[in-house]
Amino acid sequence: MARPAVQFACTECGYSAGRWFGKCPGCSSFGTLVEEAVGQAGRAPAPPRPVLRLVDVAVEEAARIPTGVAELDRVLGGGLVRASLVLVGGEPGVGKSTLLLSALQAMSRTRRVLLVTGEESVAQVSLRAARLGGAEAVEVLAETELDAVCATLETERPDVCVIDSVQTLYSAELGSAPGSVAQVREAAGRLLRVAKESGVATILVGHVTKDGSVAGPRVLEHLVDCVLQFEGDRYRAHRVLRAAKNRFGSTNEIGVFEMTGAGLVGVPDPSAVFGHTVDGEPGAAVACALEGTRPILLEVQALVAQTDLAMPRRVATGVDPKRLAMIVAVLARHAGVSLGQADVFVNVAGGVRIDEPGADLAVALAIASAARRAPVRTGAATFGEVGLTGRLRPATQAARRLEECAKLGLGEIVAPPDTPEHPGLRVTRAETLRQALAAGLDSAAGERTEALSR
Ligand SMILES: Nc1ncnc2c1ncn2[C@@H]1O[C@H](COP(=O)(O)OP(=O)(O)OP(=O)(O)O)[C@@H](O)[C@H]1O
Ligand SMILES: [Mg+2]
Repeated sequence: MARPAVQFACTECGYSAGRWFGKCPGCSSFGTLVEEAVGQAGRAPAPPRPVLRLVDVAVEEAARIPTGVAELDRVLGGGLVRASLVLVGGEPGVGKSTLLLSALQAMSRTRRVLLVTGEESVAQVSLRAARLGGAEAVEVLAETELDAVCATLETERPDVCVIDSVQTLYSAELGSAPGSVAQVREAAGRLLRVAKESGVATILVGHVTKDGSVAGPRVLEHLVDCVLQFEGDRYRAHRVLRAAKNRFGSTNEIGVFEMTGAGLVGVPDPSAVFGHTVDGEPGAAVACALEGTRPILLEVQALVAQTDLAMPRRVATGVDPKRLAMIVAVLARHAGVSLGQADVFVNVAGGVRIDEPGADLAVALAIASAARRAPVRTGAATFGEVGLTGRLRPATQAARRLEECAKLGLGEIVAPPDTPEHPGLRVTRAETLRQALAAGLDSAAGERTEALSR
């Protein structure tokens, strides 16, 4: 009898082979190849289906479902899309269940919403609901069996369903433990089908591994329409929600929340919270970075400390480490700030991460300020990209950044050439990093602190 055909596929990169490998030849990860059944040969071929021209497709108005949480809506691109699948990932205890329960609570006023909880008992959910208040109309199902969850969704057909979490669902057919690669993939695949067929906007909660990616197979991220990451320090109050993938909107938007006793509260104006430095303190600069369409002021802090290490440390929190290494090198080569004998630490306030090159100048200014012990001028903010030649490159949407700075009451801006004027702001245009440091640092105050500390 012929053996059934099997193949082994990598859960990380999708590489497939006829035999098992411990190390995936495609992406070099270990232990990621799992056995898959191959479709049976010799079946009757499927009949061809009629094709459509796009012009003939009747477009159902892709009405969004507002979640009632403004910051969540912003990250989703204006609300949930019907029949879509959204994956929300985040570290344990960051507040995923709290965020989604408050969204369900707001949506339950106008729609049918269902919470499928596999992690917590109904009593625990109701305790949290009591703390948040007003979630009486939210329907709850405590179930981990995948078939039962899918069957309930098909008969009940709520408008919105939250599955907390996808790792707790299991299908008895598969035999492997809940949370295993095969189970999570099966659960996501089945829920995707149910979401599309029954028109349920489904939100999956996913756990995050140590390195920060959503646990379970990578294919999960390909399957869903939208991947949201909930970040932030569990020990501090502010949390940032950002989209890693979004089929219906931009991935640049962020939502900022504060964790309080009454749940997560949106922070509509994060600049007012994060964009402050203490006047006259060396090692801190205010960056005007752009997150999606929203300019946001952030405090960037730097510490420069003498070291005996042969390879001084460059530690970045909230800034790309490669970008930091580059800025340190440009500072040394083109601006006369030598850091070869010093450890450099950089941190962005509020646990926010800046990926945008427009924040380079603020990072450079904070480091130079720490190295020279000269504070940044009072009321000054900066933006601009630092080039490898030490020249500054213009940052996008300068006018919107200036507007945000003016709104927050800053008086002085150090920015690249070609930055427009703005009423109420004194814009200093610097061609090079060296000029920007001269314009941004208060050297006289630096000398005074130096004299005092001597
Ligand atoms: N009474 C309270 N007052 C203030 N904050 C609270 C209170 N109760 C819980 N929290 C906050 O809520 C967080 C837990 O939120 P939540 O259960 O939504 O997290 P989660 O991401 O769903 O976690 P898990 O991955 O374990 O499911 C706690 O870390 C704590 O910061
Ligand atoms: Mg939870």
